[in-house]
Amino acid sequence: MKIIAFSNQKGGTGKTTACVNTAAALVKEGERVLLLDLDPQGNATVSVGVHLKPEDLTMAEFLLNNARIEDVMVDSYLSDLSIIPSDTTLAHIEVELISRSKSQFLLKKALEKSKDVLNSFDFVFIDCPPSLSILTVNGLCASDFVIIPVLCDYLSLEGLSHIIDTVREIKSKLNPSLEILGVLPNMIDRRLRITEESIVLLKKEFGNIVFRQGISTCSRLREAPSFGKAIFDYAKGSSASDDFLTVAKEIKRRIK
Ligand SMILES: Nc1ncnc2c1ncn2[C@@H]1O[C@H](COP(=O)(O)OP(=O)(O)OP(=O)(O)O)[C@@H](O)[C@H]1O
Ligand SMILES: [Mg+2]
Repeated sequence: MKIIAFSNQKGGTGKTTACVNTAAALVKEGERVLLLDLDPQGNATVSVGVHLKPEDLTMAEFLLNNARIEDVMVDSYLSDLSIIPSDTTLAHIEVELISRSKSQFLLKKALEKSKDVLNSFDFVFIDCPPSLSILTVNGLCASDFVIIPVLCDYLSLEGLSHIIDTVREIKSKLNPSLEILGVLPNMIDRRLRITEESIVLLKKEFGNIVFRQGISTCSRLREAPSFGKAIFDYAKGSSASDDFLTVAKEIKRRIK
C-alpha cells in the first residue's frame, strides 16, 4: 500500500480532478483505492458521488481522533473506491488542529491506528487543499509520494518551484521518506503555443520529474463532478479518459 498526496499551493491546477480520475483509472486496472479528502471544499467527496448529511462523521473527526476509520470511511459510486469525505467542518477545526501537540502528524497518527483497514487497499490518495495550511502539511507528512498537478501557463510554472521547495523542506524536517512522484502537466491544448512552450520549459527545468503523459483540456472533465462520476463512467472514450489510464500506468511504473 502506497500513500500519494496530490498537492500544489496554487488553486485550480487540477489536484482534485487528477486525484479522483487517476484513482478511478487504477480501480479500472483492478486496484483498490482509498481517497482521503483533506480539503474543506469537499470537491473530491462530491466528485465520487458522496453527499453528506449534517450528522455524518468526516475527516474532521478522524483527524481529531474522535472517530475510527470504520466510522468515517464510506463507499463511492465504485465498489473498489472508498473515501473519507470532507465538508466545511474541516475549515472550522484548523485552529484546534494547530493547538494539538505534534499537529503536523495528526493524519499520520490516525492512519497508523487504522493499519488493518489501510492494508486492504493498494493505494491511498490524498486530495490536498490549495495553500500550505496545517491540513496540507498533515497530508504531506502522512505520504510516501506527492504528485504535483500544474497548468501549462506562465504563472503556474512560476509557482512550481515554490511547492517543490516546500516538499523538499518537509522531507528534510518532517518526513524523510517523502518523494516527488512527478509533476503532472494539466490542461494541455496542443493548439496553444503556451502549452508547447510550457512543456519544453518544464522538461528543461525538471527533467524526468515531469510525467511523460499529461492531461489534455477536456470539457467533459468539468462536467463529470456534477454527476458524481469519474471520466470513465461519464464520458468513456474522451481524450482525458485515455490520458488518465496512461497516467495510472505511469504511476505504477514510477513507484517500482
Ligand atoms: N484537463 C482539464 N480540462 C478541462 N477542465 C479541467 C481540467 N482539469 C481541471 N479542470 C477544471 O478546472 C477546475 C479546477 O480543477 P480542480 O478542481 O481539479 O483543481 P484543484 O487544484 O483541485 O482546485 P482547488 O485548488 O480549488 O482545490 C475544475 O472546474 C475542473 O473541472
Ligand atoms: Mg481541489
